[in-house]
Amino acid sequence: NKGHYEHYMQKEIHEQPESLTTTMRGRLIRRGSSKSKSVLLGGLKDHLKTIRRSRRIVFIGCGTSYNAALAARPILEELSGIPVSMEIASDLLDRQGPIYREDTAVFVSQSGETADTLLALQYALENGALCVGITNTVGSAIARKTHCGIHINAGAEIGVASTKAYTSQIVVMAMLALAIGGDTISNQARREAIVDGLYDLPNKVREVLKLDQEMKDLAQLLIAEQSLLVFGRSYNYATALEGALKVKEVALMHSEGILAGEMKHGPLALVDENLPIVVIATRDACFSKQQSVIQQLHARKGRLIVMCSKGDATSVCPGESCRSIEVPQVEDCLQPVINVVPLQLLAYHLTVLRGFNVDQPRNLAKSTVIK
Ligand code: F6R
Repeated sequence: NKGHYEHYMQKEIHEQPESLTTTMRGRLIRRGSSKSKSVLLGGLKDHLKTIRRSRRIVFIGCGTSYNAALAARPILEELSGIPVSMEIASDLLDRQGPIYREDTAVFVSQSGETADTLLALQYALENGALCVGITNTVGSAIARKTHCGIHINAGAEIGVASTKAYTSQIVVMAMLALAIGGDTISNQARREAIVDGLYDLPNKVREVLKLDQEMKDLAQLLIAEQSLLVFGRSYNYATALEGALKVKEVALMHSEGILAGEMKHGPLALVDENLPIVVIATRDACFSKQQSVIQQLHARKGRLIVMCSKGDATSVCPGESCRSIEVPQVEDCLQPVINVVPLQLLAYHLTVLRGFNVDQPRNLAKSTVIK
């Protein structure tokens, strides 16, 4: 049921304040201000000790689910101190990459049925790793075959393009980072800021959804383009990849997410006055590096659309022609949840304006199961 929305993708983008609330329900603990703030993940509690002792955490997934894990990687590394590596399921299988008994392998999948992810799970089980599932589908193959896990609880996602599952997956993995990090004194302030940030996140998403019309106007401007680049780094490298994936899969426009730190190693050659480029430059530890990226793109006459924190537009935009997208600032590790929303809206509006099927993009299926 689409309610008053025209498409499932539109409905699912707009219901993110609610889906995030459901994802966090009963899992955040915030006792009086003197007591500690933390998380409770029932499905993991018997395995946390083993996870903390593991030599490595490996995230495994495909497409949007892989991107969600990539967004959560920095906070997991920070809070756990355990090296975190990333594997696209098909690539791990192609290489028969090393997976050890001392590894914790985390399988991320909205459907819980994706063939490559499932085969990679089989492979990790054979290699003796502790296998954790993060899925949105209770009773799915991945939920059943992993040793333990966390349900995303985002509610059924009907649109082929994943939107609300993505933001809920990031939140689940941020909570996973908090759970693995435990209640150490050294992490206390950071942990409390993240828990507070999580509580407030649905409100912040409600705020960023107000950019709907602005994103529709931007889509109108980009309707006839051949290509769109999205530059991001650190927490928001994943946002760049995910924004570009949404644009290519539904709006059928070539789009590429680029790690801003790699700009000089190739992508800079593409920059001219015609190719539109979104640069994600919200406030975090890499803000000044992104400012310098903007300057360099501007020096080459790049057609810039800068995503920045509220109040930064005039200082971050280098010239008259530069457009800005101002978003609310949240705790850095949660910023990817906010930043992806305008890009989801942009992909949605571009698709509708270009006259393509938003809910069932050409050649794609919701779940790529084993046939
Ligand atoms: C993109 C998209 C796909 C899926 C991928 C994995 O919007 O939906 O990239 O994310 O096929 O699917 P799940 O998460 O079900 O394993």
